[in-house]
Amino acid sequence: MKNYKIGLLRGDGIGPEIVDSAVKVLKAVGEKYQIDFTFTPYLIGGAAIDACGEPLPKETVEGCLASDSVLLGAVGGPKWDTLPGNFRPEKALLGIRAAMGLFTNLRPAKLYPALKGACPLREDIVKDGFDIMIVRELTGGIYFGERGYRQGKYGEEAFDTEAYSRMEIERIARVAFETARKRRKKLTSIDKANVLETSRLWRKIVHEIAAEYPDVEVSDMLVDNAAMQLVRNPSQFDVIVTSNMFGDILSDEASQITGSIGMLASASLSDNKRGLYEPIHGSAPDIAGQNKANPIATILSAAMMLLYAFDEAAAAEAIVNAVDKVLEVGYRTADLTRENALSTTEITDKIIEAL
Ligand code: IPM
Ligand code: MG
Repeated sequence: MKNYKIGLLRGDGIGPEIVDSAVKVLKAVGEKYQIDFTFTPYLIGGAAIDACGEPLPKETVEGCLASDSVLLGAVGGPKWDTLPGNFRPEKALLGIRAAMGLFTNLRPAKLYPALKGACPLREDIVKDGFDIMIVRELTGGIYFGERGYRQGKYGEEAFDTEAYSRMEIERIARVAFETARKRRKKLTSIDKANVLETSRLWRKIVHEIAAEYPDVEVSDMLVDNAAMQLVRNPSQFDVIVTSNMFGDILSDEASQITGSIGMLASASLSDNKRGLYEPIHGSAPDIAGQNKANPIATILSAAMMLLYAFDEAAAAEAIVNAVDKVLEVGYRTADLTRENALSTTEITDKIIEAL
């Protein structure tokens, strides 16, 4: 029997509950498809700050690097919000992305027919549905550029810098073209080339790489226009490729038009197959520990892990189909309905039943 070692980063807030749900689903699907998993938890974020005084302990980094793949819940919460930048739980997320070399972040956003009613867009806008894959650069740009405080013209001032190298743009562009090639072969590169030098280099290099992919139709879009197009006509998009910060913002926007941020999974990948899988939502401290959170984004992240990290396409598809089925039948967590909401554990059990 195959065995995969999975590092679990439960994190903070609803993190532990949703990760435990996904683990249950993985175990269930593993039984059906003869896959064995070994799960090892490691501390991250506020939980790590509380236990050992730092958001990303060395053991966590080493444990993740030694795992076949990593499943993450969420980090952060009001308790740690006033800590200095370097000691914030979010710093751990950036740290683990950098340590594992996870330069690609895949964030699929599709409209589930069963959730059309939860979509805030007008019916005529989403009549054809949408199925978007956002390819976000994850270890460069302003998130990782030089930053600090200094005395400026008007006294105290803070600064962050956006920098992108040719190498970083080339490799994310290739991932995006490869991704588009396996889908509807349409790539939109999003930048702010009318203002930013980094965007002008980005655009130039994307078009150089495009020559290697004549079968993919590529176009550029300015980020402000893209923010508008996402709510005006989301079905025009297939694959989107963009920088770390623009991808952060646009993926939250894309998640909202699917009906709930509680539905969106993500995969963060390096050159090798190892990767880190996490829902795109945060730790939702307001509902933490109440068995109310929607675990579907994390469960779908586990499905992405099966597909991308382990090539277990059948098992991955079984999870995706089970989620579809449960939604079709009408089961909903509290983020998606006002009446008869199921708890985290209840909807998890329904998904397992549907497997
Ligand atoms: C995300 C989150 C993170 C990011 C935060 C928590 C650092 O918003 O994964 O989208 O900005 O990348
Ligand atoms: Mg974000």
